[in-house]
Amino acid sequence: MRCVVANWKMNLQSEEARAFCEDLLVHLAPEPQAELGIAPPFTLLSLVSGLVRPKGLHVFGQNGHAEDKGAFTGEISMPQLRDVGCSGVLLGHSERRQFFGETDEALAKKIKAAWQWDLLPLLCIGETLAQRDAGETLAVLGQQLSILSQTGPGPLWVAYEPVWAIGTGRRAEAPQVLEAHAFIRAELIRHGACADYEVPILYGGSVTPESFPELLNIPEVAGGLVGGASLDPHKFAALAKQAD
Ligand code: 13P
Repeated sequence: MRCVVANWKMNLQSEEARAFCEDLLVHLAPEPQAELGIAPPFTLLSLVSGLVRPKGLHVFGQNGHAEDKGAFTGEISMPQLRDVGCSGVLLGHSERRQFFGETDEALAKKIKAAWQWDLLPLLCIGETLAQRDAGETLAVLGQQLSILSQTGPGPLWVAYEPVWAIGTGRRAEAPQVLEAHAFIRAELIRHGACADYEVPILYGGSVTPESFPELLNIPEVAGGLVGGASLDPHKFAALAKQAD
C-alpha cells in the first residue's frame, strides 16, 4: 500500500481550498493506485470532504478529542469529525505534542475513540534534534509506540516525522529513515499491530517531489505525510503520481 497525505496545518481559507481541490482533481490520474488524503483545518473539513471524498480520497481531521461530547471548549470530537465527512484523524503530530501538550496517555484514548467512530488514526511519531544528538531516537520512537500495548490492534497508519526535518528543508538521510522505519515495523509487530492489519509507515519532514522518489525506494517507506509541498496542488499531484 502506498499513501500520500497532505497536512495543511493552519493554512488556507475556503476559496483557496476549493481552488486547490478542483485543480488537484484535474491533475490526478483517473484512478490513482496510491491511497491519498488531505488533512485540512477543521473549518474546511466539510468543504474538502464534499469535493474529494466522492473521488476516493481520504479526509483527516488534524486532531480529535477522546470524549464524544461535553464541556471541552475549543475541542472537536471523533463523531463530529465523522459528521463532516472525515474518514481518518491525525493524532500526535509533533506540533500538537510540542505546542499543545499532547501526551501519550491522551493519545491512547484518542486512538480508541477514533476506532469507535470508524475513523482511521494516522499516528505521528518522531524525535527532536536534541534527542537524536543524544542517541535517544529509537528509545523515543519505542516510547511513543508503547501506547499500542494499551490500545490493542486496529486499523492504523503511522508517520515517522523527525521533528528537526519538519518545515526546515532538511530531510532525514536515507540511512536514518531506513533505521527508523525498520525499528518502527519491528515495534509494530512486537505490539501485535500488524497481525490482522496492514499498517503503512509514512515518512514526513520536508518531503518534495524532488526527494520523494528516493524515499519511496527505502524499505518500509509506504509514502509521505507532507506539509509545505502539499499546499501546491501541482506538487501534491506530482507526489501522488510518484507513489503510483
Ligand atoms: P513539511 O513537509 O512542511 O516539512 O511538514 C511535514 C509535516 O509536519 C507533515 O505533517
